[in-house]
Amino acid sequence: MRTTLKNSIRLEDNQQLAHLSANSVPKGEKNHIPFSFSQQSNNLGPNAIRDLLRLLERPDVISFAGGIPDPTLFPRNAVRAASECALTQDSIDALQYGATIGTPMLRERLAHLMRSKGIDCNEDNILVTCGSQQALDLAVRVFVNSGDSILVDNPTYLGALQTFKSQNAHVTPFSNLAQKNASPPSKIAMGYCIPDFANPTGLCLPQEQRLDLITQAKANGYVLLEDAAYANLRYEGDDIPSLLALDCHHSGSIEKANTLYCGTFSKTLVPGLRIGWACGPSSIIAKMARMKECSDILSSPLNQQIVSYLLDNIYESHLEKLRTVYSLRRLAMLDALDQFMPSGVQWNSVQGGMFVWLSFPDGLNTDKILTRAVDDAKVAYVPGSHFIPDQSAHHHLRLSFCMNAENTIKEGVQRLSNFITSEFGRQT
Ligand SMILES: Cc1ncc(COP(=O)(O)O)c(C=O)c1O
Repeated sequence: MRTTLKNSIRLEDNQQLAHLSANSVPKGEKNHIPFSFSQQSNNLGPNAIRDLLRLLERPDVISFAGGIPDPTLFPRNAVRAASECALTQDSIDALQYGATIGTPMLRERLAHLMRSKGIDCNEDNILVTCGSQQALDLAVRVFVNSGDSILVDNPTYLGALQTFKSQNAHVTPFSNLAQKNASPPSKIAMGYCIPDFANPTGLCLPQEQRLDLITQAKANGYVLLEDAAYANLRYEGDDIPSLLALDCHHSGSIEKANTLYCGTFSKTLVPGLRIGWACGPSSIIAKMARMKECSDILSSPLNQQIVSYLLDNIYESHLEKLRTVYSLRRLAMLDALDQFMPSGVQWNSVQGGMFVWLSFPDGLNTDKILTRAVDDAKVAYVPGSHFIPDQSAHHHLRLSFCMNAENTIKEGVQRLSNFITSEFGRQT
């Protein structure tokens, strides 16, 4: 039987979401284990958003919650052709163990891709990873000791916050340090930033602020982790150079840069192949490769070859297709927000990526009203508190515009707007 939100759990607040995992142990079966878990594993709560998304899968609900690419746009035929090619032309290499750092074929193409972004680099500056999530995790394990501080945007990507927590790091928003006399609780080991079309805000960091981040990282001797997951999904306006490109320019060479770039094909090809990469000084790449060896030896060579063929054959045309489709959906969402949202609600006119971030007057708690939004208004979103390091603000939400057609987006935003209007009415 399909579980509905109503008869399973009331999502009153984050704490209840956190209990979802514990509740997944069948009734009567206590989770008795004769050993204790490590501190790192105990630092990790359940992935609240993944739990939430499962609960929101209902045919009558228009969901803007999932931050995933539209599967109807996956280049399935091209992936099939690339797999056949890999299995006929290079079958031994595709199926055998290989170098931890990645296949020469893919690293060569990734170095070329990075050079096209103005970063003077070669294959030694590239590590192939299992999605960009692994690149974030390896970087944290290479640079961060338990108790160190990591500077972040506020709000920021939940998956990164989880990784930082697993290393027992103090997470401090960059903006806190901008306040007078503020200092981080411990040594700053890393700054983490999503400069292009960030998850969850959809915003881009202006070039001036990118330069500031680089200057700060250099002055204080920490690594700057650039998460470029959405950088290739620009639909409007001009590209801004990446942090790594600016840093290379500033430092004179990638080998002197403080920035480590994390890229992925999850948003632009398919997430299921799990191919991402890190690009940075070769000394960092070599250290991360040793760390990766401990964790998974290497990323699937077959998948690396598939991605290499896709890069040669369809990547650019596929990107164009994604940009066209997602941009129309973005415009449909922005138009509908303009048309239907009551005054007092704020959002940004995003130029790329997958998300729009909405801010409400302080009193409206988007965690508390989610159940009603889903049950009564039949529309779903992700409450903003999940992206806020200390989960202290509850008056934001994230909408994804990628998964629905334009007319469904218009209908969903209208439902959400009517619902918010009625919630404003309840408050007064
Ligand atoms: C900002 C950001 N970084 C990294 C990732 C991880 O993506 P993957 O590991 O699939 O490359 C995601 C996934 O949603 C993301 O939103």
